[in-house]
Amino acid sequence: IPVDPFDLVVFGATGDLARRKILPGLYRRFVAGQIPETSRIIGSARTEMDDQGFRAFVAEAIAEFIDAKKRDAESIARFLDHLRYVSVDAKGDSGWPELAALIRPDVVQAYYFSVAPSLFGDLAERLHRHGIASPEARIVVEKPFGRDLETAKALNATLAAHFAESQIYRIDHYLGKETVQNLMAVRFANILFEPLWNARHVDHVQITVSETVGVGGRGAYYDKSGAMRDMVQNHLMQLLCLIAMEAPYRFDPDAVRDEKLKVIHALQPVAPEDIVRGQYRAGGPGGNGSSYVEDVDHRDSRTESYIALKVDIANWRWKGTPFYLRTGKKLRARASEIAVVFKEVPHSIFGDEEGWRENVLAIRLQPNEGMTLSVMIKEPGPGGMRLTEVPLDMSFAEALGEDGADIPDAYERLIMDVIRGNQTLFMRGDEVEAAWAWTDPIIAAWEARGDRPKAYDPGSSGPEDALMLLHRDGRRWREIRE
Ligand code: BG6
Repeated sequence: IPVDPFDLVVFGATGDLARRKILPGLYRRFVAGQIPETSRIIGSARTEMDDQGFRAFVAEAIAEFIDAKKRDAESIARFLDHLRYVSVDAKGDSGWPELAALIRPDVVQAYYFSVAPSLFGDLAERLHRHGIASPEARIVVEKPFGRDLETAKALNATLAAHFAESQIYRIDHYLGKETVQNLMAVRFANILFEPLWNARHVDHVQITVSETVGVGGRGAYYDKSGAMRDMVQNHLMQLLCLIAMEAPYRFDPDAVRDEKLKVIHALQPVAPEDIVRGQYRAGGPGGNGSSYVEDVDHRDSRTESYIALKVDIANWRWKGTPFYLRTGKKLRARASEIAVVFKEVPHSIFGDEEGWRENVLAIRLQPNEGMTLSVMIKEPGPGGMRLTEVPLDMSFAEALGEDGADIPDAYERLIMDVIRGNQTLFMRGDEVEAAWAWTDPIIAAWEARGDRPKAYDPGSSGPEDALMLLHRDGRRWREIRE
């Protein structure tokens, strides 16, 4: 799909997200031919720097985050020509007239707020006060979008004072992942799955986002959030919505988001016995890894670095089919997947077959994006009617052949959607608020009880209690494997 010429301003251009994801991602889109000739990427931050300084900064980011085989000096030089830099003071007036003079009123304008949410209001207000943003200008905001319903509402109100909802792009980068979009294609472009996609045929659903990293240098932020706020309220919730929602009448931003919103409204409160929170202790494979409380430098922290929960969706399609969610840091493998586990056949004509397994549709988000459908067949050979499970396996990278290795990163895809004006993969304000409205009482309840998270070993698959969450329902988690 062609892209119109644009001016993209990245506020917070010297920050970590810009350096790691946004700017290298834009280079990849440039190489893919998606940055029109006259488009400009304007870095902006408080740091004083000229265009040359910013270009050097971006060149370094490309060298660090783009594989040597995927970059070359000539295209980097041409990409850098698109870059400008303006230093602005988000809380003052300096720099804004210079920015105003640079921005063209007649091209697509996008403003990426890659800054702390406390600055959203200041930026929005100044873009207007200085007459910079055109009536169709788009703004892009990052998570965390609030830390509870109240703060999310306040942020929405701040943005709404200056921009219409159709101009606001709230990023959840999980929606930009290849497989996540494929989830919608699999569900709604095939006749095969949809008739079975309900409580009558689906026993349960597992959503796993397992990370090997700890909280790294983000301890101060993370310790105030925990896995529930950092991952479940947004990323896992979005995955759940895409699996559970009804077919939208069209693949259109509001049609899709209306359906997701209905799912969030149908989520039931979660009982304390359906939640397991964990926190990693010291140790791990090498034996010398630091503990969570050391990583965040807070000895008495009760914040969870792992959470597993059983979620019920009260509607006609899903009543009776639990959705089990889990996510955590410093686990055994980096592996994220959605598994739709189907029910048993109504009656086995083969007798009590030991080898029998349920059909599972597993959708791998990362690494090795793809899908596996496990089915039962007769074990090949003369041994009689013995059943065995085989995977119908599809790797998206292999299916795409040569191009497979070039699946765009979530951020690059989402930025191009902003430029094209497509909000389908962005969260609407009411969606975010509904997600917090479900999350808040869960967190409030464990805080009121003073629950402490259970310790788990780094490199494990999480606390023992999380196994029980499924065992007691006669089910088991799928193995976490890369
Ligand atoms: C971020 C969280 O939103 O997502 C991080 O704040 C987490 O804590 C990250 O590590 C995971 O993203 P990905 O794309 O690496 O799965």
